[in-house]
Amino acid sequence: MCGIVAYLGKKVAQPILIEGLKRLEYRGYDSAGIGLMASGAIRVKKSSGRISALEAMLDAPCSNETIGIGHTRWATHGEPNTINAHPHLDYTGRIAVVHNGIIENYATIKKWLQEQGVKFVSETDTEIISNLIGYIYENRAENGSSRLKNQNKFEWAVQQALHELVGTYGLAIMCSDYPEMLIGAKKGSPLILGVGENEFVLASDAAAIVEHTTQAIYLADNEMVTVTPEGFRTKTIDNIVISKELKQIEFSLEAIDLNGYEHYMLKEIFEQPESLRQCLKGRLDLRNGRIVMGGLSNLTRELTRTHRIILLGCGTAWHAGLVGEFAIEQLAKIPTETEYASEFRYRNPIIEDHTVVVAISQSGETADTLASIELAKDRGATVLGIVNVVGSTIARVTDAGVYLRVGPEIGVASTKAFTAQVAVLMMLGIELARRRHLSGDDAKYYIEELAAIPDKISQIFEQNDHIRRIAAENSDNENWLFLGRGFNYPVALEGALKLKEISYIHAEGLPAAEMKHGPIALITNRMPAVFIATQCSQYDKIIGNIEEVRARGGKTIVVATEGDENIRRYADHLITVPDAPEPLQPLLTVVPLQLLAYHAAVHRGHDVDKPRNLAKSVTVE
Ligand code: AGP
Ligand code: GLU
Repeated sequence: MCGIVAYLGKKVAQPILIEGLKRLEYRGYDSAGIGLMASGAIRVKKSSGRISALEAMLDAPCSNETIGIGHTRWATHGEPNTINAHPHLDYTGRIAVVHNGIIENYATIKKWLQEQGVKFVSETDTEIISNLIGYIYENRAENGSSRLKNQNKFEWAVQQALHELVGTYGLAIMCSDYPEMLIGAKKGSPLILGVGENEFVLASDAAAIVEHTTQAIYLADNEMVTVTPEGFRTKTIDNIVISKELKQIEFSLEAIDLNGYEHYMLKEIFEQPESLRQCLKGRLDLRNGRIVMGGLSNLTRELTRTHRIILLGCGTAWHAGLVGEFAIEQLAKIPTETEYASEFRYRNPIIEDHTVVVAISQSGETADTLASIELAKDRGATVLGIVNVVGSTIARVTDAGVYLRVGPEIGVASTKAFTAQVAVLMMLGIELARRRHLSGDDAKYYIEELAAIPDKISQIFEQNDHIRRIAAENSDNENWLFLGRGFNYPVALEGALKLKEISYIHAEGLPAAEMKHGPIALITNRMPAVFIATQCSQYDKIIGNIEEVRARGGKTIVVATEGDENIRRYADHLITVPDAPEPLQPLLTVVPLQLLAYHAAVHRGHDVDKPRNLAKSVTVE
């Protein structure tokens, strides 16, 4: 994904665009650029690398440039260099576009435009958008827009072009013939219009808007907005005027301050006791042994009657789903499966009556998860969303849902969202079980244990320096294994992903018993094996797996239950977590793995919050 921002108002646009891009940089950061409306012409500045590189090349802001667009990129088509950075001008230099998304039929359109003599300068798919608008504007708009009363040539050309595109877009567009106008359009990628006092900020998410206004409209697919100093007008791309409700943005800037931490990821790891308390707040009815999730209240019948549950997600969200699968099956005895959204959407899945699909997504914008939701809805499933970003696309297209309520998660490597996703799935499992056979006393037991988790996480932080030393001592090993059983198997997967995505060390998560079916051939003293060996039903079995590794000279890093004296002899490095019922252990055992990955990445000198090649939310396929 990437971040787009645009400003129209009375203030100097350049610093507003740059500050807005910095707030969106976690969405993509391989190149950046801005375009400013300057005396009837569009001035574009762009650079490969971070926004700081762009900032360094800019001239002093011009006081008369109060309209502009900006972009921080996560490349999908064309390498991350200056030429491919956005904004992209059309061949006449009259149209400028910044784009979040993928145009799937760009090659066909590009070939056709080239046959009409249009010259391209970049390798991106985005450039066909600016050139197609420019071509239509230049060659067809006269006879087109005159037929339609409530629009101008610029709007008409944009609408005509958008109808030709197959794929996804969040767009901000300028035209030098309309120097006091911005157009935004959305399909498949988020776009929000902040409405201030005689000023407007169009952006991919609220982070770039809230310092200017907390009033916004959220565009839906196939909608566009025309912004001028007099106000804004929303339409469909078929030129049908629509009214959009102004909504209060629920986002605070202090939530995205580092508060003294070196990185957002470390801040968000340490936030987990409090973020979990916020996630659980008001949802645990201990007195009656019930779970109260208001977002699901309109689905009581569907949830009570469901015969099968499908959990959808990508990456960390999928790992949380796997924990949820085990919990729902163990507690509620409902057949449950966890699907990679990227696979589910292409597999022609079987969805029979009384199937409930649950989409798990921190950002609420992941393209594969969105596509899977649409497929499930087309097949008649009831679809829930477990989402963090309020007002995100998944939150709006699902039948109902539960917000994580953990505040913005800025670090690309997901941490507090994972523990909240697991907590919400645990609550769902308890509530579904209560509607079937789980006794009030048993439910109260799990609810009390869930409520005790935040304090238990705090205890783990006392070992932070110890974990940092373990990471430093092992971070020059280029291959790690992560191994767990039962509820801790998904945690092994999550620990491996954390290490991979920020330290660039290759890591593999496995069910511990799978070692002997091949991977044990890899064991050397240069391959740390991280075992999650807490007090659980398979404790003795996992001790056997640890011994298999040690018998072959392997090095073991063991996460165990505090007070377990037996485990010490099996561990080259030992990290302990407080005890908890097995279904809740992932909320604890993941924390040492998050810290291991964080410290390994710092020790290796990487940018923890903006790891190479990644973006916070993958809104492209
Ligand atoms: C997790 O650390 C990664 N950033 C990535 O796997 C992420 O979990 C995945 O892209 C899903 O994102 P979502 O939860 O916003 O849908
Ligand atoms: N597809 C566009 C490009 O490659 C935008 C990418 C994005 O949205 O991250 O420049």
